[in-house]
Amino acid sequence: MTTPTLDVDLTDLDLFTDGDVHGTFARLRRHSPVYWNATPDGGGFWALTRYRDVAAAYNDAARLSSRNGTVMGGSYRRSADSAGGQMLIASDSPEHRLLRQQVHRAFLPDLLERAGTVVRRYVSAALDEVLATGAADFAEVALELPRGLLAAMFGLDRDEATRMLTLTRHMIGFKDPLYTDGDDTMTLVAAQVEIFDLIGALVAERRRRPGDDLVSILVGARLNGRPMTEHEILYNCLNVAVGGDETTPFTAAAAVEAFAHHPEQFDRLLADPAMLDSALAEIFRWTSTNSYVQRTAKTELTIGGQRITPGQSVTLWNVSANFDEEVFARPEVFDVGRHPNRHLAFGSGPHRCIGLGAAWMEIRILLEELVERRMRFEVAGPVRRLRSNFMLGPTRLPVRVQAHR
Ligand code: HEM
Repeated sequence: MTTPTLDVDLTDLDLFTDGDVHGTFARLRRHSPVYWNATPDGGGFWALTRYRDVAAAYNDAARLSSRNGTVMGGSYRRSADSAGGQMLIASDSPEHRLLRQQVHRAFLPDLLERAGTVVRRYVSAALDEVLATGAADFAEVALELPRGLLAAMFGLDRDEATRMLTLTRHMIGFKDPLYTDGDDTMTLVAAQVEIFDLIGALVAERRRRPGDDLVSILVGARLNGRPMTEHEILYNCLNVAVGGDETTPFTAAAAVEAFAHHPEQFDRLLADPAMLDSALAEIFRWTSTNSYVQRTAKTELTIGGQRITPGQSVTLWNVSANFDEEVFARPEVFDVGRHPNRHLAFGSGPHRCIGLGAAWMEIRILLEELVERRMRFEVAGPVRRLRSNFMLGPTRLPVRVQAHR
């Protein structure tokens, strides 16, 4: 089968900031669901855009590897991610299974409950201030969520959590002029060096005085009877920091934007707070913050009639799968009562987001606090989106706010 030529380039960041993302993916699903996206360097990658192909690929870890990293060009070393085999998200089993057992201990109900208390405190204070002034940049307000979570998970004070947040922001947003000083590679490298220093200092501190945070858990962890190496500890702390910082604030801001455009959906929630769970699921589907993940073919395989050869990059587009009309009725409608809603925003299979419970908790707290204050938003100026095809969401969301009677 030959690949139909569509004039679509999924590395074109303009598409994700100002373009018709959903229209483009609808076209791909219809005309070229397993799409070869050529790149100027003579290479390219496969893009899976249908729900069923994306879901199957997530669950095919035997043939699709995570070792080269899940972000295209995600490391400053182009082809292979230097964390391969040592970092949860960039490893295959058996290493992945062993690492996951240990990192999972930081996501147990005890720690999450403590984290929830901090998140609620930070978010409540920020929302009270927004109500008092009547206006805000909600992209900034949304940062209170990961700030609270990571303060609790890493045992940091507010300033330290803010420092970590700034660095992960530079790492993920390294192609966005908002975060670079003109040189995106240097921005990425500098942020990586600095965050490793910061986490390295925390590791040394927790070795001296262990607590009950993630770093202490990993410092005391054993893999197959041996302690985790310094690199493994650093990489996995980094994985949680990036996973925690660079997702939920975009989801939260995009959720507020969605409610501003569809106030009747917020009214449904006000009228029936029992809709909170279905509203949360719809927010995760609608925002699809982590738009894709990458795999590398280990063997030859065929998907949707296309032959994929070993070593080729295969990308799984959540943002497309979550709007697949074969699975979701009227996917273009934001519906807080949607049921069923088996979205793939957190992936599926062995690498399914380990922070899923934390993310639900954070966005739930935000919604509960918005409902409690009956806060109604209007978009009050130009919205700016992150210049990335990997994370989607506003970096600036000016809003006017009113308490709804
Ligand atoms: C809206 C919020 C979030 C979204 C949309 C999201 C999305 C995802 C997705 C799609 C994956 C699968 C990656 C793959 O298959 O290669 C993943 C994995 C992961 N996420 Fe999240 N995530 C979110 C929140 C979080 C939070 C709050 C944390 C940590 C505090 C976190 C930490 C991680 C980690 C460590 C992994 C790697 C798991 C593994 O490889 O076993 N995520 N996330």
